[in-house]
Amino acid sequence: MLSDDPSWWRSAVIYQVYIRSFADGSGDGIGDIAGIRSRLPYLAGLGVDALWINPWYPSPMADGGYDVSDYRAVEPVFGSLDDATALIREAHEHGLRVLLDLVPNHTSDQHAWFQAALATPPGSPERARYLFRDGRGPAGDEPPNDWRSVFGGAAWTREPGPSGQWFLHLFAPEQPDLDWTNPEVRADVEQTLRFWFDRDVDGFRIDVAHGLIKAEGLPDLGDAADPTTSRRAKDHPHWDRDAVHEVYQSWRTVADSYDPPRVFVAEAWVTNPERLAAYVRPDELHTAFNFDFLRAPWLAPALRRTIDATLRDHAVVGAPATWVLSNHDVARHVSRYARPQSDRPLHSLQDLVGVPGDLDLGRRRAAAAALLMLALPGGAYVYQGEELGLEEVEDLPDEVLADPTWERSEHTDRGRDGCRVPLPWAGDAPPYGFGTSAWLPQPAGWAARTPQAQAGVEGSFLELYRSALTLRRDHPALGDGALQWLPSVEQVLLFRRSPGFGCLVNLSDVPVALPSGARLLLSSAPLVDGLLLSDAAAWLELAD
Ligand code: NOJ
Repeated sequence: MLSDDPSWWRSAVIYQVYIRSFADGSGDGIGDIAGIRSRLPYLAGLGVDALWINPWYPSPMADGGYDVSDYRAVEPVFGSLDDATALIREAHEHGLRVLLDLVPNHTSDQHAWFQAALATPPGSPERARYLFRDGRGPAGDEPPNDWRSVFGGAAWTREPGPSGQWFLHLFAPEQPDLDWTNPEVRADVEQTLRFWFDRDVDGFRIDVAHGLIKAEGLPDLGDAADPTTSRRAKDHPHWDRDAVHEVYQSWRTVADSYDPPRVFVAEAWVTNPERLAAYVRPDELHTAFNFDFLRAPWLAPALRRTIDATLRDHAVVGAPATWVLSNHDVARHVSRYARPQSDRPLHSLQDLVGVPGDLDLGRRRAAAAALLMLALPGGAYVYQGEELGLEEVEDLPDEVLADPTWERSEHTDRGRDGCRVPLPWAGDAPPYGFGTSAWLPQPAGWAARTPQAQAGVEGSFLELYRSALTLRRDHPALGDGALQWLPSVEQVLLFRRSPGFGCLVNLSDVPVALPSGARLLLSSAPLVDGLLLSDAAAWLELAD
């Protein structure tokens, strides 16, 4: 059963289910709702508090379901609306809350609205839900401005119809951007919120929460056009504009009108923790993914800086921080940590290509990072398979790549499929109990990584996550609250959570002693002669 704590989200550990790759119940090689339902005991046994399920709505899948053609239905490949409501009910019975994924910045080009827009002339109310503009140049055959798509190429596509207008898509051309100055757009999305809240969904993750509002007149990016600086530029014409906050104030009113109140988490890629904190002011969204932590290298000063800035800026607005190591958009952290670490953040598979890595080292660091993350104040996210120690699949054959990045980058960027490979559950060979087949090929080495192989095995990744999550749930010091740094040698992090808890993380290249008087609760690697090895972390009982 669900806890009745209305502040559950301030300390929650939320497990991200990338539905297509989680578990296949129907036998078509694609994960689905039946698969999730069959694995609820596993998720409850892991000790997480909630699930966030990536988009499960009808979609042509031009971008893994982030191109939604109907927000108030379920994609038949994943199941039916009845399956969805059964899943929500059963998850609740297992004590797990359910967050869905809302995609408000853009629809699919197959959405009825976009089809209606294409069928009507310039100036129609149907077109006014999107950002259609005339092109530049005497023949109107140049894009209306210089904005770039996140997936590569121009952010504008000329419509095939007689008007010759262009439409904006910050992502793929199959994902036209909505015009958030249009009250009809605002009202419709609120109706979607209510539709799912009425079906007992506990909240939403907000896709591209920093992108909804565009600067009036859609001015050129100019200097900010360089893709490496565009997210950082001040007063950027389409990222993190102040007016976006009004939208979230309005959604908060909707969420608060439910009993129990529903919650939001923002996907907002912004310049710094201070800008992020603005999204989680008391009358806006509840939490936001902390991508600075995800992007921080495995170096003590960088991690400490990120932790301090995050906690400081969240405290100002009274919101809990969240901590994330991986998700479906970035290379799995085992593989990032397997590489030499420097202040240049490693992010996507593209950053790893050609850089030799040591996966054993990456796994040791990932295990230590899990203990660090789960000891920090606030909530945390676990991306499916992270609890198994899965690595990025770096050698998927070209012909199976499905991420639009691959095509849009003219085959120079392999995109995000490597972190979306179907989960291995059991057995010695692919598809490892995922179903009867798997939509992306799984590596030969994953037999050792299945829950079946790891369950009950001391020292396994899975057992480390289970022990940490159980301890975290029972320990009064963990979850929401404060942190106090204690003196430590260079490249070692040591902090206290009261009452009576300490976390020691050794990022140096020599073993370190536990603080005096400490008693070991859990460690990511066995102590040797009472010392904590390099790239290991320990949870401690530590007097206040
Ligand atoms: C962020 C999502 O996480 C990503 O997978 C998607 O491609 C973009 N938003 C566009 O919706």
